[in-house]
Amino acid sequence: MVSKERADTPDRIIEGEGLWEGRLLKFNRLKSTNAWAMHHIDSCRHGDVVWAIRQTTGRGRLSRSWLAPDDRGLTLSVVLKDLEQDEIVPILGQVAALAVRDTLKTHSIHGSLKWPNDVMVHDKKIAGILAEVDSDRNVVILGIGVNVNVRDDDMESAHLVQSATSMLIKGGRTFDIESVRECLISDLERRMNSVTLNGTSHVADTWARYDWLAGSSIELHSSNGTVRGRYTGLDERGRLRLLDGQGRKRFFWAGDVEKIVLDQ
Ligand code: BTN
Repeated sequence: MVSKERADTPDRIIEGEGLWEGRLLKFNRLKSTNAWAMHHIDSCRHGDVVWAIRQTTGRGRLSRSWLAPDDRGLTLSVVLKDLEQDEIVPILGQVAALAVRDTLKTHSIHGSLKWPNDVMVHDKKIAGILAEVDSDRNVVILGIGVNVNVRDDDMESAHLVQSATSMLIKGGRTFDIESVRECLISDLERRMNSVTLNGTSHVADTWARYDWLAGSSIELHSSNGTVRGRYTGLDERGRLRLLDGQGRKRFFWAGDVEKIVLDQ
């Protein structure tokens, strides 16, 4: 018997419900929508959205995992192929974070954005994004996880690196995951169209309006070590700008950030 967990084919394919009239590839259960999309990239089209009602071993940034208990989270991956503007690729995670913020706002939840691409409500994370790039094939898989109806006890029983929240906890009611998905796809399409038309500098400008780190001193942990300094926003390529203790302007593509109080 073929185990359903192998999930080679979607349970349903819905034409026109992806981005730009792409397909929605719906799975009842999948280990990881990003992993599936990357593995089946040849059969995927630009704009396809891989959506799992239950994602059992979701991948997060920096080799972490992503918790999506039962069917209470929104877990999907958008397939982007043959992107013509190279400068868009590094900023796609931020474009997706802006779209998630728009979607939350439509549902009366006010999120802010934490570099590189987390969506926060107050000091807790409500959504995460994992953009995986295969530059040889000119492919980006844009994975988005939103804590929709995730409960307090789900968070407590998981060992989370960062404290988390959900739409249910912040909104005080359950949300229809399917309509959150529809809203997110249309917000993402709009944000993607805007960056294609207006360029990447608009992303940094819009980000600045909702920037969770604005005005903060930070500690940044990256593969090259830890740096402390004053956060000065994003540049137009999506890099974090930091003024270090020696007054040098520094730029970072990746890492983990915390707010700190610097000694005077
Ligand atoms: C993060 O660490 O903040 C990024 C989390 C990204 C999770 C999403 S859920 C849908 C997609 N599939 C995955 O395996 N991961 C991403």
